[in-house]
Amino acid sequence: MVIVTSHDLRVMKELGCLLTYNPLDCLLQVVIQTSKEGEPTTSPGSPFPFWTALMLYSNFNGSVDDRGICTCSVVLPDTSFPVQKVESLEITAHDLTQRFEKELTKVKEYTKTMQLFEQKLLNLSIKVQVMEETSISYNKLDFELLKLEVSEMQKLVTALKSNFDGSSVIIDQLELEIRNMTLLVEELESLDKNNILAIRREIVALKNRLKECEESRGQNNTHPFIPPGSCGHGGVENISKPFVVRINWRGSGYKYGAWGRDYTPQEPAKTLYWEAPLNTDGRYLEYYRLYNTLDDLLLYRLAKENRVRLGDGSGMVVYNNFMYFNYYGTRDMAKLDLNSNTVTLRRALPDAAFNNRFSYAGVNWQDMDFAVDESGLWVVYSTEASTGNIVISKINDTSLEVLNTWHTLQYKPSVSNTFIVCGVLYAIRPMNTRKEEIFYYYDTNTRKEGRISIIIEKMLETIQSVNYHPLDQKLYVYNDAYLLTYDLTYQKESEHP
Ligand SMILES: *[C@@H]1O[C@H](CO)[C@@H](O)[C@H](O)[C@H]1NC(C)=O
Ligand SMILES: *[C@@H]1O[C@H](CO)[C@@H](O)[C@H](O)[C@H]1NC(C)=O
Ligand SMILES: *[C@@H]1O[C@H](CO)[C@@H](O)[C@H](O)[C@H]1NC(C)=O
Ligand SMILES: *[C@@H]1O[C@H](CO)[C@@H](O)[C@H](O)[C@H]1NC(C)=O
Ligand SMILES: *[C@@H]1O[C@H](CO)[C@@H](O)[C@H](O)[C@H]1NC(C)=O
Ligand SMILES: *[C@@H]1O[C@H](CO)[C@@H](O)[C@H](O)[C@H]1NC(C)=O
Repeated sequence: MVIVTSHDLRVMKELGCLLTYNPLDCLLQVVIQTSKEGEPTTSPGSPFPFWTALMLYSNFNGSVDDRGICTCSVVLPDTSFPVQKVESLEITAHDLTQRFEKELTKVKEYTKTMQLFEQKLLNLSIKVQVMEETSISYNKLDFELLKLEVSEMQKLVTALKSNFDGSSVIIDQLELEIRNMTLLVEELESLDKNNILAIRREIVALKNRLKECEESRGQNNTHPFIPPGSCGHGGVENISKPFVVRINWRGSGYKYGAWGRDYTPQEPAKTLYWEAPLNTDGRYLEYYRLYNTLDDLLLYRLAKENRVRLGDGSGMVVYNNFMYFNYYGTRDMAKLDLNSNTVTLRRALPDAAFNNRFSYAGVNWQDMDFAVDESGLWVVYSTEASTGNIVISKINDTSLEVLNTWHTLQYKPSVSNTFIVCGVLYAIRPMNTRKEEIFYYYDTNTRKEGRISIIIEKMLETIQSVNYHPLDQKLYVYNDAYLLTYDLTYQKESEHP
């Protein structure tokens, strides 16, 4: 009788074993233990590959010591089962399992795609059960299935990664390890015929973990979805890279101007785009164009072109099918009906500085910068009394009356432009020729102001105007003859600056 024992799978390749030597009875009975203590994975007669190998290469020599115990060693040939790899795979899988345990604390929210996955898992479990119950050796197809499952996990991880804003380091690591596992499975395929089941179970377990992790991701999304036109957020958090729409229709010489999209609260999805390059003096608004869709604007087609000859600077805005601008050479606000191209109303903005007294840094003649947000029409300007600091007024768009006024501590000529989102004024300033910074805010809801830092990439040096649209939550920027848009992202409700 021979008892072969190993405490470490690594030992198996050069199998050190204890022999209880009985010359009268040379039958071999083998008990093999894996590294998981006290848990024999195979018993005599099982199709364990080491057993098979041992039977095939049993011409080992033993030596008896003085206590009658015989020690032997067997060198298994290279084509034998890659024990270390299985072991490391097991360790990896075990390790992954543990780390997922941690991730699981974040669990919640379900997604539909996972239901299909669940069904596949069920199918897989049945298959595994059948495999376990029959002792036939497993063929190529089983491995194909296994490979498919692993590749699905990989896809899931990739999908997870794109949705996981917070802890993508963990997902990256996971992806790497699953890729490693894929390689291992491929290697094992050529060597193992039986032991794959254990790995398979680990993979099924791992998949369950992944599923739960997937369920949890919704909870920790750092960019909450903000419904269009809603103010259920805590203010601007970041801004995308610029999307270059095209150069203005008058060409690269027309560096000054503005563009945007009409916001009509009763009809918020309306896609009326306007484009207003100033004359080359950087002051005079003479021509503007309207397009019914963004495609038309992109292709310079079906434009409605109007001549107005009354506007001063690039602070204009379009709201509810009217254009609002500073009437040339005055402190008047003007309201232009876009249908008839006629000025229907003019009214002085009390105390407003004009004629390039307090314009923006690098941008002339924008003493009055109109703005539109979720709640309507605003104007940003300065007065002599404010010593050039920014004054914000809410305007009744019907009557052009000032509804309310806020005084800030920010000097207007030192900022390059402003925009208003949900009653919060954001001011930007140039950092260098390629970057601007949203560096300051004033919240008219709370009368608080302060510093922030959000970097804006620009195409060219000077940002001539910035207009916000509440529905698509984009900024429409006129950047030295080019029309750009940017997407805004918002903070969660409680984290307001
Ligand atoms: C067993 O011992 C014999 C004689 O010493 C030697 O020729 C043979 O190679 C050994 N076999 C193994 C498997 O070590
Ligand atoms: C989100 O993740 C952070 C750590 O990344 C954790 O402290 C917080 O509890 C998580 N929130 C939820 C709702 O799971
Ligand atoms: C599960 O197995 C059934 C029967 O083999 C099959 O019809 C079904 O499509 C499988 N489901 C998935 C999700 O693979
Ligand atoms: C992937 O496998 C390589 C070689 O087997 C190993 O060096 C590396 O650490 C593994 N990576 C991970 C993330 O397990
Ligand atoms: C802000 O957005 C930019 C551009 O997409 C990105 O490169 C940057 O990492 C973001 N910053 C933060 C703090 O999310
Ligand atoms: C705006 O002005 C119009 C016309 O004077 C008036 O009917 C309306 O009530 C005003 N709206 C607000 C919010 O004051």
